[in-house]
Order: sequence, then structure tokens, then C-alpha cells
Amino acid sequence: MKDAGVLGADVVETLSRTGYSDKAIELLRDRPGMGTLENADQVTEIVGPCGDTMTIYLAVDDEWIRDARIQVLGCPGAVASGCAVVSLARGKSLEQARNLTLDDLYAEVQKLPDKKVHCARLALKTLHKAVEEYRNSQDEKGREE
Ligand code: FES
Repeated sequence: MKDAGVLGADVVETLSRTGYSDKAIELLRDRPGMGTLENADQVTEIVGPCGDTMTIYLAVDDEWIRDARIQVLGCPGAVASGCAVVSLARGKSLEQARNLTLDDLYAEVQKLPDKKVHCARLALKTLHKAVEEYRNSQDEKGREE
């Protein structure tokens, strides 16, 4: 990776040596998709068994995820996975997002240290839960109408 940016060359070297791919380091450096969405249609938070927290924001139009953001209070694996998951979710239908797998996430992030697989699972679980909660809220609305 050419530009270490805010991470610093020593941090990049450590991340690389401990098993993060260049792509994962790039996600950590640039943090695309990190943040919140005003007027989100769905906000879902999960606290992992490790105590790390992910909050995902979805903007949904007619079953399609128009935009997605995530906030992560957690480890580098969580941040890279969170960025990857929102990047995958954008432009997908709710069904496609619900069907995203760990393999899809790894195709995006390329490589994380072996011990960080639970971080990737947590990011995916947060997206899946958000889709489920959004669908439930739509079903409830439908029943009320
Ligand atoms: Fe908790 Fe990475 S250690 S998500």
C-alpha cells in the first residue's frame, strides 16, 4: 500500500504483518461508509460478545437500499468489516442484502487475521438484523393501514 495516510507507516506495517490485506488497510485508512444517515429508514445496533458495537443506518426505497452507513466502536477488524458491509449493501435489494454471506464480505475485504472472523460475522449480522427489523416495521405498518 502506497499511502499510509492517517494510519502512519508503522501502523500499516503492523496491520499488514498481522494479517490484514492491503484492501482491509485501505478501508481502515479511508473509512468509506463510516458515519450516520439523517432520516434513515432503519437504524440497528448490535453489541458483540466482545463488547464492540456496530450501528448501521439504511435508507430504503421500494425494497432497495439506496444508501447505508455504519458507526463502529471497535477493533480494526470491525472497522474494515463494517466499511465492507455497507459498501456491499448499497444498491442491493433487501433480499440480496439479507442473502449476503461471509464469503461475499471476504471478497470485499480480501483478508483479515484469522482471529478476526467474528468481527466480520458481527458486521454481517448487523446488516441482516437491520434488514429484518426494517421488514418487520413495514409489516407492522401494513397491518395498521
Ligand atoms: Fe470485537 Fe473485533 S474484537 S468486533
